[in-house]
Amino acid sequence: MPVIRQNQARTATGVNPGIVIVTGASSGLGREFACQLIRDYPDFCGELWLLARREPLLQQLQAQLRPFGTCRILALDLLTESAWQELGQLLEQAARPVAGLVNAAGIGRPGHFAGQPEALQLQMLRLDAEAPVRLCHLVLPYLKNGSRIWNVASVSAFSPQPGFALYAAVKAMLLSFSRALNAELKPRGIGVTAVCPNPLRHTDFFKAQGLDGPVQGLKRLTAEEPSRVVRLALRRGFKGKDLSVSSVWGRLIGAASRLLPVRVWLSLEAMLGFR
Ligand SMILES: NC(=O)c1ccc[n+]([C@@H]2O[C@H](COP(=O)([O-])OP(=O)(O)OC[C@H]3O[C@@H](n4cnc5c(N)ncnc54)[C@H](OP(=O)(O)O)[C@@H]3O)[C@@H](O)[C@H]2O)c1
Repeated sequence: MPVIRQNQARTATGVNPGIVIVTGASSGLGREFACQLIRDYPDFCGELWLLARREPLLQQLQAQLRPFGTCRILALDLLTESAWQELGQLLEQAARPVAGLVNAAGIGRPGHFAGQPEALQLQMLRLDAEAPVRLCHLVLPYLKNGSRIWNVASVSAFSPQPGFALYAAVKAMLLSFSRALNAELKPRGIGVTAVCPNPLRHTDFFKAQGLDGPVQGLKRLTAEEPSRVVRLALRRGFKGKDLSVSSVWGRLIGAASRLLPVRVWLSLEAMLGFR
């Protein structure tokens, strides 16, 4: 398990500390968000709510983060209705407002749509799209001026992706939703940032697919470190930016997919080994 170091440069956000909810906190990007938020933003994160299904991993993280502040464990499965009821009740009873929400729980199963079981596709749709939308809606009444939401999308959001069709479509929805919500909530002093990483090293995302990590061509070469992705996402979020793309490749993909006709971009994507 990675060691969480005391950070010398604790960052001031100018907001009173509140609750910060992080989904997907048991591994990967969510875990990294949790660590950096409680360690580097103590004036923002008064109490961290760590949400995922694997309780032992959340307990380990809670123990590691104890020197930095208070963590509450929410061992919940976001695909069950009881999780939403429990979350609703916890928020109603909470003593402080919600300063932050990080929607990092997510799964991705590559493969041609026709070859994938319907149940798996629906699970991805519900966890990667419905859950973040529902959580944003649930926390809205508890947010205050200065609150921030981070929705983890992907570079896959920038263009259609044959071989990962539903995942890319869901992430495109999350990107569009986050940017529009950011504009809607700006008058209340609330920011929403879509986070669009390249494939990542050292998360469980590929393990869940039975892989060691991003294996194909450029995907492997351009893979990113979660710590860097999160550092930039937090900085961009606190500046009120609606998008955080931490890699040069990600920015290039974003620009190319905007400039090129979809047909040309799809051929280029295949040639470059993005699928
Ligand atoms: N890895 C990449 O290459 C990559 C690239 C771009 C974007 N992303 C996005 O980044 C986000 C985080 O991915 P990651 O790479 O950090 O993957 P990860 O290490 O597999 O983390 C996924 C997290 O989601 C949680 N989760 C899964 N199903 C859940 C459920 N039903 N209820 C509650 N929590 C659930 C997992 O915890 P439990 O299993 O304990 O529930 C885990 O903490 C995802 O949205 C992913 O789409 C990943």
